[in-house]
Amino acid sequence: MKEQVLKKFEELYGNAGGAGVYFAPGRVNMIGEHTDYNGGHVFPCALTIGTYAAVKKRTDRKLRFYSMNFDSMGVMESSLDDLTPSNAAGWTNYPKGVMWAFAERGMKMDCGLDIVLNGNIPNGSGLSSSASLEVLTGFYLRDLFGFDVTNVDLALIGQYSENNFNGMNCGIMDQFASAMGKKDNAIFLDTADLSYQYAPLVLDGAKIIVTNSNVKHSLVNSAYNERRSECEKALEELKTVVDIKNLGNLSEEQFEANKGAIKDEIRKKRAKHAVYENQRTIRAVEALKNNNLKEFGELMNASHVSLRDDYEVSCDEIDVLVEEAWKVDGVIGSRITGGGFGGCTVSIVKDEAVETFKEKVGAAYQERVGKTADFYVVEIGDGPSKL
Ligand code: GLA
Repeated sequence: MKEQVLKKFEELYGNAGGAGVYFAPGRVNMIGEHTDYNGGHVFPCALTIGTYAAVKKRTDRKLRFYSMNFDSMGVMESSLDDLTPSNAAGWTNYPKGVMWAFAERGMKMDCGLDIVLNGNIPNGSGLSSSASLEVLTGFYLRDLFGFDVTNVDLALIGQYSENNFNGMNCGIMDQFASAMGKKDNAIFLDTADLSYQYAPLVLDGAKIIVTNSNVKHSLVNSAYNERRSECEKALEELKTVVDIKNLGNLSEEQFEANKGAIKDEIRKKRAKHAVYENQRTIRAVEALKNNNLKEFGELMNASHVSLRDDYEVSCDEIDVLVEEAWKVDGVIGSRITGGGFGGCTVSIVKDEAVETFKEKVGAAYQERVGKTADFYVVEIGDGPSKL
């Protein structure tokens, strides 16, 4: 990857001497879905796949972007004096948004950049290619301009730019997982105060498998923002009867005792998911600490059911993948992962069942959906780095 981006850099912009090469990972979430904007817990890990960039300072204020994943768009030009979102800017709205977010915090770049990107996260897979691009951008800006920010700041700046520049009201999970990733560990993050613990996730006798449905339904962003406002509204209603800051403050019992305050059945289901999923996540991490993989898997399965029925962010293709996974002997747990409406599932599968899992789930998906699923055995990697 390093050689590839440098070679492309040389081809497009001439001399690659002095260009730095950087990497930031994608993520997969094990459990704790749609809890991160509800002040709940999440349990994601960084992947060894992600986004790479070769970057070099210019002497003027021009920005030149090129992505090897979007060759047909060619070199996209912009300027430090034009950090505003536009449809025409396509994927460059992500790095531009991060540059804008740094500037908003008083950290201004004093020259433009030439940039070549290449990523190996399958596009639209829900493994956070956009968060990895945001964290990557922040990471090279810090390196090149000496901005005084921590990796947690990189995550917050990435989220801020995605919310305010790209119009997606995402929580902090994806950017945090990318910026704070640690090899062989998942991150148990409390999104209410950003306190976190690493938890080793090397499974004895089992593998983590990500299955890509290769579908992405177009309502992703709008439905996501809608879920988020439904939860906010439900929280307001609950606050009239119980003293809480966010849905993550409630136990299941407290929710059941107070849910009458929510005046709409749909909102009640959304809030129920947020509360129960948070408690499931806390329990799952506890189970993992106690080496109780069976319970961890059962909680993953329950998470799927809740995302399918109460939060309604799954889709037929994903439900087929999960149902078929549940049928395979040796599958410890399987669920949708990420924002939803397509993308990937995450499963824990016993070593000896991995091949059967791929064959059976792959064949059933082909038969029932008419599409090919892709399978990746996950390796958990570190956060961003300079190569
Ligand atoms: C997307 C968002 C995250 C999180 C997940 C759902 O990936 O970017 O912030 O809300 O969906 O858990």
